[in-house]
Amino acid sequence: MLDLVERPRRGRKNPVVRAFSRETWLAPQHFILPLFIHDGDADVAIGAMPGQSRLGHDGLLREVEGALGEGIGAVVLFPKELEAHKTPGGEASHDDDGLVQRSIRRLKGRFPDLVIVTDVALDPYNSLGHDGIVRGGRILNDESVEVLCRQAVSQARAGADIVSPSDMMDGRVGAIREALDDAGFVDVSILSYTAKYASAFYGPFREALDSAPRDLGDVPKDKKTYQMDPANAREALRELELDEAEGADMVMVKPAGPYLDVICRMREATNLPIAAYQVSGEYAMLKAASANGWLDERKVVLESLLGIRRAGADVILTYYARQAARWLRDGGLD
Ligand code: PBG
Repeated sequence: MLDLVERPRRGRKNPVVRAFSRETWLAPQHFILPLFIHDGDADVAIGAMPGQSRLGHDGLLREVEGALGEGIGAVVLFPKELEAHKTPGGEASHDDDGLVQRSIRRLKGRFPDLVIVTDVALDPYNSLGHDGIVRGGRILNDESVEVLCRQAVSQARAGADIVSPSDMMDGRVGAIREALDDAGFVDVSILSYTAKYASAFYGPFREALDSAPRDLGDVPKDKKTYQMDPANAREALRELELDEAEGADMVMVKPAGPYLDVICRMREATNLPIAAYQVSGEYAMLKAASANGWLDERKVVLESLLGIRRAGADVILTYYARQAARWLRDGGLD
């Protein structure tokens, strides 16, 4: 017999005792469901994201109704725009009759309690595939922020509850706050993509929206001059300080799984709610391995989401939101 005073296994001896010391749990209200939309009637499957589609008009309503029924209260909308709507200035982003704006009005008309989050960035609307305006081989900061402010106000006017700048331009949170307030939208929140990394895990998303940077002349081929270097964590705290000072209501880390340390460090540094985005590439990996029978999908998905919560995220944006909500209802991880 070992002479042990402490035996941590006593706390793991059965499910009831294990539940006494459980520190983290998942529930559908922790999830925000990202949805791809397009201006058409049919849903169009997305190759690298099995189970996800660019939703048509009816598909969007059906998907939201299902999510609400499963206890998910919020969605974020990503539009697949027609090539003909894309311009170097991304003007379609602030068209009050644009796809996102019309979709918000339809959703609010049908589901008044649904919380709608919108993406503020120009990449779906920019003919060069960047989140801001490109000129002379550079992504312009201040000019882009002006357009982003118009986009956010147009989304608020349509009924968005939370606008979410994912563009990583400097100063955009403060500028958007001021533009929203000036337009009378003091109650519209800002969920800032505070630490958004220049990640290869966004690949399937760019396929879904056909929004990858264009291979043209002097257009930068990547987003490294505005999205963060995956090597950096301290820099996330610097972005956090700025976003807090500029009036962000919530802050985000993206991607989630490979950046749990960043979530954890931000958790220690802020009292704001933290969101984390389990992005398209994380979804694709889990799907592919599960489809091959190499991983147990239900178990690995719930474990990955739990890990993100344990690291310190309050809210998770995940394409698995609906499935996870159903798995939780049917017994969760036990
Ligand atoms: C664009 C945006 C991206 C994602 C969300 N908003 C892609 C990018 O920055 O290139 C990625 C989400 C995902 O991969 O699931 N502003």
